[in-house]
Amino acid sequence: MEKRNEVYRCEACGNIVEILHPAGSLVCCNRPMILLDPQTKDSSTEKHVPYIIKENEKITVKVGENAAHPMEEKHYIQWIEILADDKIYRQYLNPGDKPEAVFYIKANNITAREYCNIHGHWKS
Ligand SMILES: [Fe+2]
Repeated sequence: MEKRNEVYRCEACGNIVEILHPAGSLVCCNRPMILLDPQTKDSSTEKHVPYIIKENEKITVKVGENAAHPMEEKHYIQWIEILADDKIYRQYLNPGDKPEAVFYIKANNITAREYCNIHGHWKS
């Protein structure tokens, strides 16, 4: 069964959804949606794992740590998200933007996630 904050994709049409309240199986285009289980380790030269820089309440998330992920029309980071305790903050990005986002939040437990339109879902 789906869980809150999981992200699913329809392999037929490309719809992507995030679970706010799990209550049943997700179906799109007459087939089950696929869980985008976020990856945490990147062995390619292009890095996807979100890198968090915390300065008091200023949280900067970069993709990736040492080299910026491409932000081209055909290949870019679509969003960067912070899960902070029981809150979610999301920055949508466009080609040409920097592959990073800044959030001003107070939280004890922070996880960052991002979605690359080619290489999928990643988390810190
Ligand atoms: Fe990528």
